[in-house]
Amino acid sequence: MLPCLDGAQALPWVPDRLAHGRRATDIAAAAQPDAPTPATGRPAPAQRRDPWTDQPYAHALRTGSGPLFLRRLSPSDAAQGAGWRGDLLPLDVERWCALPDAADSSVLRRCAGPVLDAGCGPGRLVAALTARGVPALGIDVSPTAVARTRRLGGRAVRRSVFDRLPQEGRWGTVLLMDGNIGIGGDPIGLLDRLRTLVAPGGRLLAEAAPHDVDERLTVRVEDARGRHGRPFPWARLGTNALLHAADATGWLPAGRWAVDGRPFVALHRPGPGRHDQHATLAALAARPGRR
Ligand SMILES: C[S@@+](CC[C@H](N)C(=O)[O-])C[C@H]1O[C@@H](n2cnc3c(N)ncnc32)[C@H](O)[C@@H]1O
Repeated sequence: MLPCLDGAQALPWVPDRLAHGRRATDIAAAAQPDAPTPATGRPAPAQRRDPWTDQPYAHALRTGSGPLFLRRLSPSDAAQGAGWRGDLLPLDVERWCALPDAADSSVLRRCAGPVLDAGCGPGRLVAALTARGVPALGIDVSPTAVARTRRLGGRAVRRSVFDRLPQEGRWGTVLLMDGNIGIGGDPIGLLDRLRTLVAPGGRLLAEAAPHDVDERLTVRVEDARGRHGRPFPWARLGTNALLHAADATGWLPAGRWAVDGRPFVALHRPGPGRHDQHATLAALAARPGRR
């Protein structure tokens, strides 16, 4: 039996989460009395426990500067509680806290509103879209990220992408930038979930890793002095792996391009009667497109 949000009110919500691969324990955690329901609007305990709420991530966003890393941890060490090992994957905090660059602009040009930025961080894209008159909302589990997005003039709410969200199934574009395909450590589950957020015929614009990788890993956020948060699951996917995962979750490839070494893919959620476009769009996705 699962603890539910206000009983009957939550009944349509819980099976939907189970269908998207969430564990019953996670759903139970999110369904505590102060989970983010329309009725209460209060933050969920699951969000407060999210590792992205830890230092040193919050500190880096507040100051707008790194260096900051994801430290790759050996899964066996994590399981045994032994000393941590692994290498450092840089997090580009300065770029996230700056104005959109040329690569970001290539994504912004492809956005059709309303736009949902999943894991918006400090909110440069939400703010830029808002300034252009494109309706946009950022979601992020980090309260510091949400506060910073709002300070830039963007709309943002503190939610996990796996929580109940506004306008599910009605977003024109969902953004998954800066490695956010790693969120949750389960790209198939994430892409499946995002397909339920986008309107039929809408699009997902996702950034891939610059190399041909396809890995699931355990990481923690760490600064240059070794201060770190808790371990959490993550994933890294290059363009090919991302397109394979998209194919497995019913997304149609609609384009790919790269700017300044950052590769992106555009994916479409098929509308009614558009299933036969797959072959055409797959051919399109096979070659890099315009910047
Ligand atoms: C790699 S950073 C990307 C930063 C961001 N795109 C930017 O422009 O600054 C990942 C971001 O996703 C957020 N995040 C992690 N898990 C999340 C989840 N389940 N739902 C929503 N946001 C999440 C983190 O708090 C962090 O801000």
